[in-house]
Amino acid sequence: MTCQPQHLTLESRLVQTGVGRDERTGGISFPIYPSATYRHPGVGESTGYDYTRSGNPTRQLLEETLAELEGGARGLAFASGMAALTTLFLHFAAGDHLVVSEDLYGGTYRILDQVFGKLGLSASYVNTADTAAVAAAIRPQSKALLVETPGNPLLGVADLAALGALCREHGLLFIVDNTFLTPVLQRPFEFGADVTVYSATKYFGGHNDLCAGALVARTADLGERLYFLQNSTGGILPPQDCWLLLRSLKTLSLRLERHCANALSVARWLKTRQKVTAVYYPGLEEHPGHELSKRQTAGFGGMLSFRVNTPETARQVLKRLRLVSFAESLGGVESLMTLPAVQTHADIPEAERLRLGICDRLLRLSVGIESACDIIADLEQALT
Ligand SMILES: Cc1ncc(COP(=O)(O)O)c(C=O)c1O
Repeated sequence: MTCQPQHLTLESRLVQTGVGRDERTGGISFPIYPSATYRHPGVGESTGYDYTRSGNPTRQLLEETLAELEGGARGLAFASGMAALTTLFLHFAAGDHLVVSEDLYGGTYRILDQVFGKLGLSASYVNTADTAAVAAAIRPQSKALLVETPGNPLLGVADLAALGALCREHGLLFIVDNTFLTPVLQRPFEFGADVTVYSATKYFGGHNDLCAGALVARTADLGERLYFLQNSTGGILPPQDCWLLLRSLKTLSLRLERHCANALSVARWLKTRQKVTAVYYPGLEEHPGHELSKRQTAGFGGMLSFRVNTPETARQVLKRLRLVSFAESLGGVESLMTLPAVQTHADIPEAERLRLGICDRLLRLSVGIESACDIIADLEQALT
């Protein structure tokens, strides 16, 4: 191991989040500032904080931490991932067109289709693991490319460097929903992304006890524009939840190490099961995005999906689980399994879902940080 004391590693910076930042007390943990408003020293004077929607010390520390973690100019914290996405989509105008991953969170599809679609924003859904298909979907009205990689729930891997070059060539804003990997494992700005989006409810929060979202802008100009939208629309994360998220970030690196190791063990084991007909995990050598993932990520993440032989087997597995919970969401320390066709992706029209392969035999597993042996033992009894 080579140590460079002048440069703290990401792991150390995460652990040290907020340490000593409360200069008055020197607190190791930064305080929660619940005040909704602040005294003005005089007319036209400010302490730097006027009203909590516009700025709050606890949220500010979180937002600065997110920006630093990502290597961007500005971080913004929201009440949910959807609040972050809503604010981001408000950056666009009627008549604008977005190119979007087809293998993406169903709620993102729903808001584009049923909310922003009505306001005149259109979207084309493409396989973003196929750069040529992305290029073919670009229109004169296209303003942005929104990519989830690995995809959700089928874990397809998009080539971030190639897509970054395509966005530059066509003047598109390059947006990466980096929820599945976080900046610890994947650093979209290094590939030309302009904004990253997070459901911080997932790995950032990490304990299934918090709903939060985040945007990080690479440049100060874009950050300022997104801050204007955050302050205007008000979907901010409350200070208590900002504090909880700050605490969670300290262990992000450590948690992800275990999520990745466990997911690989579980994926390899699932491949050996008779009732399992396919396993989708970029860490498996035979995954089509395996080599690309090795090049552009520092780990394959904790998410995997698998297909079983019949819809009845899928339902039986969900009913029999004991340690793993049959529950929506992902990225927490506790393992969770879902049936995307009826849960996270229910709002995608059935024909489209089936074309993508999101059928009632597909199960998605968010591999937690319990012992891999215990997770496998639970899956074994559920699959028998
Ligand atoms: C990849 C991804 N992006 C965004 C969201 C929305 O985030 P939230 O549920 O925190 O609103 C989710 C939620 O599952 C997600 O999985």
